[in-house]
Amino acid sequence: MITVNENFLKLRAGYLFPEIARRVAAFAAENPDARIIKLGIGDVTEPLVPAVIEAMHRAVDEMAQAETMRGYGPEQGYEFLRRAVVENDYRPRGVQVETDEIFISDGSKCDTGNIQEMFAVDNVVAVADPVYPVYVDTNVMAGRTGRADDRGRYEGIVYMPCTEDNQFVPALPGEPVDLIYLCYPNNPTGAVASHDQLRVWVEYAKANRAIILFDAAYEAFITEPDVPHSIYEVPGAREVAVEFRSFSKTAGFTGVRCALAVVPKGLKAWRKDGTAVDVHPLWSRRHCTKFNGASYLSQAAAAAVYTDAGREQVRRVIELYMDNARMMRQALQQAGYTVYGGVNAPYLWLRTPDGMASWDFFDRMLRRAHVVGTPGAGFGAAGEGYLRLSAFNHPERVREAMERMARL
Ligand code: MLT
Repeated sequence: MITVNENFLKLRAGYLFPEIARRVAAFAAENPDARIIKLGIGDVTEPLVPAVIEAMHRAVDEMAQAETMRGYGPEQGYEFLRRAVVENDYRPRGVQVETDEIFISDGSKCDTGNIQEMFAVDNVVAVADPVYPVYVDTNVMAGRTGRADDRGRYEGIVYMPCTEDNQFVPALPGEPVDLIYLCYPNNPTGAVASHDQLRVWVEYAKANRAIILFDAAYEAFITEPDVPHSIYEVPGAREVAVEFRSFSKTAGFTGVRCALAVVPKGLKAWRKDGTAVDVHPLWSRRHCTKFNGASYLSQAAAAAVYTDAGREQVRRVIELYMDNARMMRQALQQAGYTVYGGVNAPYLWLRTPDGMASWDFFDRMLRRAHVVGTPGAGFGAAGEGYLRLSAFNHPERVREAMERMARL
């Protein structure tokens, strides 16, 4: 008899974004004339930039010729892309990352979901609350938790509330934890963590032999100086942190798929007897076994983001989204909403009016304004009473959405 991994049965309802899509589709079917504006899932709307398109065309042409076609590539990614990442993303910031510490993948969702496999199931996981649901669900699937309570909090996970009071940067946990997920600029709140705040976490991880999984998928959206783009800007972070980056939002690759994880060679985890084990070869081993690399086309396209033209073109698209974010902030504040984020991240975190439950506010926005957001409660118990709006849409649609919300 085939038995099921019962940990999967602990997962609550569906994954957040398909659940929203389901509700929106039902509403659209009942109201075919409604012009729905989607500011829910953070999915890009602008086309790929010309430098990327040209690189993809060239790559397709190479694949069309016997002399230049490519079969399986290196599981960890092509050298040309790994080097471009080091030389453009890290070295100019004075951050030491070696080319062979970069692991190219097909997405940060997969990377942040898969990374936990390398660590024992009895590790204690700490997550911010609200949180990108992937960090939690993948640990549930792996068997690191008990069941969820009626607020959706799984037994065994340490939830670190991120609230207006702590400006959405969590305090250190009151109990020992081993695996710490941090995401800055933050999804969903749009908050950032300062160098000093990250230093506290790095010191904690060193003192407690913990590992930080730092999701920097939104670093390209930072507009203010002095905001760290990488956890490795903090001295000592190489000893305790893995960092994730993605081309999804940075370069509009949600439909192309390309991302990376940095696993420093000095990073250690421990056997039960206290013997140190290098994490880097474990992740490399896992990649070789379970992954045949992101496609050559995606990697050639990603490398084009680092050309002079690519950089400039991508910068303009990011500016368009961040102009949206600025406009949204202003419009919502003028309409009397309390709003966070949207300055260094493409997400705005809105307090629901009159203390409404976030799914109720989601429904009200959908029904009355035909605007889709993401209910804060979908990101965790501490997200209740908030709603996330994404700045990824065409400016005229965003403006219209804001006008509709002001009339709500
Ligand atoms: C989000 O809306 O939070 C993201 O688009 C989801 C993702 O990147 O997987």
